[in-house]
Amino acid sequence: MATEAATDETGDAPEAYDALLDRVQRWNAVGSASGVLGWDQQVMMPEGGTPARSKQLSALSSVHHDMVTADETGELLDELDGADLTEEQAAVVREVRREYERADAVPVELVEEISETGSEALQAWEEAKAEDEFETFAPYLEKHVELKREYAEHIDPDRDPYEVLFEEFEPCLSMERAESILTELREALVPMIDEIRESDVDLAVDTFEGTFPEDDQEALSREALELVGYDFDRGRLDVSSHPFTSGNQFDCRVTTRFDETDPLGAVGSTIHEFGHAQYNLGLPQEQFGTPLGESRDLSVHESQSRLWENHVGRSEAFWEEFLPVFKEHFPQTEAATVRDAYEAFNQVYEDNLIRVEADELTYHLHIVIRFEIERDLIRGDLDVEDVPEVWNDKYEEYLGVRPDDDAEGCLQDIHWSHGNFGYFPTYSLGSVMAAQLFAAAEEEIDDLDGQIADGEFGDLHEWLGENVHRHGSRYETNELVVRATGEDFSADAFLDYVDEKYGELYGI
Ligand code: CO
Repeated sequence: MATEAATDETGDAPEAYDALLDRVQRWNAVGSASGVLGWDQQVMMPEGGTPARSKQLSALSSVHHDMVTADETGELLDELDGADLTEEQAAVVREVRREYERADAVPVELVEEISETGSEALQAWEEAKAEDEFETFAPYLEKHVELKREYAEHIDPDRDPYEVLFEEFEPCLSMERAESILTELREALVPMIDEIRESDVDLAVDTFEGTFPEDDQEALSREALELVGYDFDRGRLDVSSHPFTSGNQFDCRVTTRFDETDPLGAVGSTIHEFGHAQYNLGLPQEQFGTPLGESRDLSVHESQSRLWENHVGRSEAFWEEFLPVFKEHFPQTEAATVRDAYEAFNQVYEDNLIRVEADELTYHLHIVIRFEIERDLIRGDLDVEDVPEVWNDKYEEYLGVRPDDDAEGCLQDIHWSHGNFGYFPTYSLGSVMAAQLFAAAEEEIDDLDGQIADGEFGDLHEWLGENVHRHGSRYETNELVVRATGEDFSADAFLDYVDEKYGELYGI
């Protein structure tokens, strides 16, 4: 666009804009410092460090909050209201205004109460899960629902509170679009999984059975990262109990985990985190600390991880390049063919009850179930005491399996113990977006599949950098997708992809 070339970051910017940008960069520096402390806590810190770390993190969080909500922030935003700004500056002001208004609307006491409830609820949830006693957790879940409804009311008393909470994680994607995509997933996937259950196709599911020592898996994970192009000068690989990515365009680190019976799990989660890291590393360096140098929200982030995990890592082409590497580390798989690896990595676990162990297809119904339950809880259409029953009924209806107990049912995930309602949908939305982005990349890149089979990822990196990473938070979510793919964000590409892939795998 013409305005991009003409943009002069500081030249004609009103003084208030420069002052605002300076404040934002400082509070984002505080925020990213917390990120480093958080990474350290999960990866390096000895267990005894917790009391000090909690105080450090909570002090930084309140410094951050004070900077965002300071009168001066509001005054600068007022001054910039209606000012003559370039497109980039207007995007920065839009993002900062949203952050300011949200933080300013909620009383500090309520934020603190939610955080305290979170600590108590986490303990109760751990106990409830260990003992399979939903009643232990129920009062805390109830309290979280009440507090979060109150929280949403402070932000906007006239709107659906679930929509307001969803915006905490996905501020610029409409609930209506999100809900319609999730509904489409449910309507298409329930019958498809049913057909797969009926199918008598035998996939090569036992190709990777046996014991795969952790050290060898770690060496393999490093090679996988090198193959796909992770920049170890700006990153590291470590181990943590839950894999995650943390960092920015200068330093973005990934973690993974190992299970000696499941080498594909580590490969999948390492490549997943690589996709997250690649997004952050592709953000413009000169915009560090401004919204133009920050990633868009959770769905877009998850689209980057799922694109690499599912569309690259789970493809037959990828295994043409990667299987020989795999065999070097694990000679016991010498007889495996590329097709075996592809089938093993893409089998549907039709009896699985656990979200984090789900395959690419059933995964979305685990999400839809959580979405429907939390939405109804927050809207006041469902009572906490009825959650276990509704959970189990939905598993039976959508996935054809019924949990025997709540530990394997509604107590399996940590999210609600943190009071995070509205987070789950972003997982599925990210996978759906990944399919749409990948389909567009396939159209624009000459023989992408062949490139992947040759271990060449340069064109794909360039396409993602150009169409997603370099924009930071400049565009709202749907606009970003439209600019990258020419179409509104929808489930179409994802549904085509799974139809073709699972149709071929299972003969349905
Ligand atoms: Co992720």
